[in-house]
Amino acid sequence: MLHVSKHPLVADCMAKLRDKRTEPDEFRSLARKVISLLLYEATADLAVHRGTVETPLGPAEAETVEQEIVAVPVLRAGLGLLGPVLELLPKVSVGYIGLERDEDTAVARIYYNKLPPLTGKVPLLLDPMLATGGSGARAIDLIKDAGGTDCRFVCVVAAPEGVRVIEERHPEVRIFAAALDAGLNDRAYIVPGLGDFGDRLFGTGG
Ligand code: PRP
Ligand code: URA
Repeated sequence: MLHVSKHPLVADCMAKLRDKRTEPDEFRSLARKVISLLLYEATADLAVHRGTVETPLGPAEAETVEQEIVAVPVLRAGLGLLGPVLELLPKVSVGYIGLERDEDTAVARIYYNKLPPLTGKVPLLLDPMLATGGSGARAIDLIKDAGGTDCRFVCVVAAPEGVRVIEERHPEVRIFAAALDAGLNDRAYIVPGLGDFGDRLFGTGG
């Protein structure tokens, strides 16, 4: 189930993230902005607890989020999306998955898996690029192995090929994306995309 944001502020961030002239410091700032906006949409249905608080003038009805969320950034590019998640979500813990695509085959290899028990918590998968879908589908396998259900996948750019893979292998997962692009090139990069997210985020593009 794919949800592509239609918010003009998201579109504005995307214009600047895509621009090849954007330097890593601005790229990191834009990544934080876009994930904050997507997070707003990805958490809109979280259950709230209704109670009261005392203001200086008396009691007020109050709603709080009691649902525990486990953010799961996929190393390394997913780290660029983690900061706002920790700032905005009241009850959040973090698990990490390390996946790296082989440059020739584009097949993802797992090199790190440190997830807490996920039963009863909402897993929030953070991986900016959904290209072939190999990394995302593998990460969701690991999340399910750890007891995760109701997983939400927040990405920046999705390709139709990757969306299809997630829908086939994990049809219940909701994908929240800032943009759905045309497709993949012969190196399995998203076109037009924004290039290599990890390299642009960490300034390792050479
Ligand atoms: C990128 C991206 C995703 C993956 C998406 O990571 O961050 O994890 O590719 O591609 P897929 O849908 O075809 O699997 P990359 O392997 O480049 O590693 P990095 O984050 O360390 O740069
Ligand atoms: N990983 C990226 O960083 N960019 C793409 O376009 C595809 C995979």
